[in-house]
Amino acid sequence: MSYDVAAVRRLFPAVERMTYLDAGFQSPLSVPVKERLEAFIASSFDTAGPKSEWLSGMEAVRGQLAAFVNAAPEEIAFTKNTSEAMNIAANALPLEAGDEVLMLEGDHPNNAYAFLNLARKGVETRFLPMPEVVDGAFFERHLGERTRAISMSLVTFHAGHLFDVESVGRLCRERGLFFVVDVMQGIGVVPVDVKKIGATFVGSGTHKGLLLPQGLGFLYWNRKAVDAQPSYMAAITLENPPADLIARHDNMTVASTARRFEIGNFNLPAVLGLGGALELLDAIGVAEIQEHCHALGDRLIAGLDRLGVGLVGPRARAHRAPHIYVAALPAAEWLPYFAEQNIRLSPERDGVRISLGLFSTEADIDRFLDAVEARLRASAAA
Ligand SMILES: Cc1ncc(COP(=O)(O)O)c(C=O)c1O
Repeated sequence: MSYDVAAVRRLFPAVERMTYLDAGFQSPLSVPVKERLEAFIASSFDTAGPKSEWLSGMEAVRGQLAAFVNAAPEEIAFTKNTSEAMNIAANALPLEAGDEVLMLEGDHPNNAYAFLNLARKGVETRFLPMPEVVDGAFFERHLGERTRAISMSLVTFHAGHLFDVESVGRLCRERGLFFVVDVMQGIGVVPVDVKKIGATFVGSGTHKGLLLPQGLGFLYWNRKAVDAQPSYMAAITLENPPADLIARHDNMTVASTARRFEIGNFNLPAVLGLGGALELLDAIGVAEIQEHCHALGDRLIAGLDRLGVGLVGPRARAHRAPHIYVAALPAAEWLPYFAEQNIRLSPERDGVRISLGLFSTEADIDRFLDAVEARLRASAAA
């Protein structure tokens, strides 16, 4: 499995200006997304906005996104980001005082706070210490009498775990538990199939593997699993928005589709831009991107081993995200050096995070490793 990485790289000019190892922070803008954003600006600038065309374009992108995650368009709501998707999900689940939600300690706070905030309803969130391997058997050992839901990430941002969400989904179905998954750090690099995951809700933003700037997310809702009710309401939330735009008490039936979780106007340029990103990802294939990143990860791990630098997080392909690696180099000490070397990466809890994308190359990995080696040598000689 392979694709023309050099051709893909030409679509992301920023990655030629530096050693960009920060795709897990945000995606550089690509030509296809830029073109869609520019087309939106031009139509707005020239014609003061063909809104009906933009809205039909939005529905086309909803269809593309649904196909991308193996959902139906009716199961997809657009949101502002992951946090909004997780908050909508947490508040829409029929959880009551005394119910318990299981989460992993140290998982992304934008998911965790959505559930911690349910404490005001008396719903308790219990954090389980995060082991290297998380699957259905792990959660099964921790289920309590009051456990009603599990919420977790597919891929961890801070150490690159890739969790077996499908087996957790099976456990949840067997035990009648709600299951909420944050796929933000995996989508676009790890194939996401919401049916295989078997989740009640899956949420994500789009500014990493989905190649958009910040400000757009989505929520998948399994309508068959639960009649989840929205906390917010606007005209478009309704099954039949009033044509005369007058709100009435007797017209409050929410849409039967995931549109019930949408309110107000949309981030239309971003949604239309997402159409360009999904076309690019579909043309390459997420499985190919995953394999490409895994192979680069093998090279990175071998290089770190050679230099005696520890890898934080899982090493085996089965348990590690293809594209997120944390090298045990103290961030405060190393970041200014990497900045001098024009290497872009992120500080992490236990080191520096090297995160890869569809445009990453062996040369990027080697430049990073050469820079680490040079500094280690210089400090050994000093
Ligand atoms: C697992 C995970 N969830 C959520 C987010 C971000 O949340 P939001 O899209 O709300 O900014 C990130 C990273 O930024 C992440 O890694």
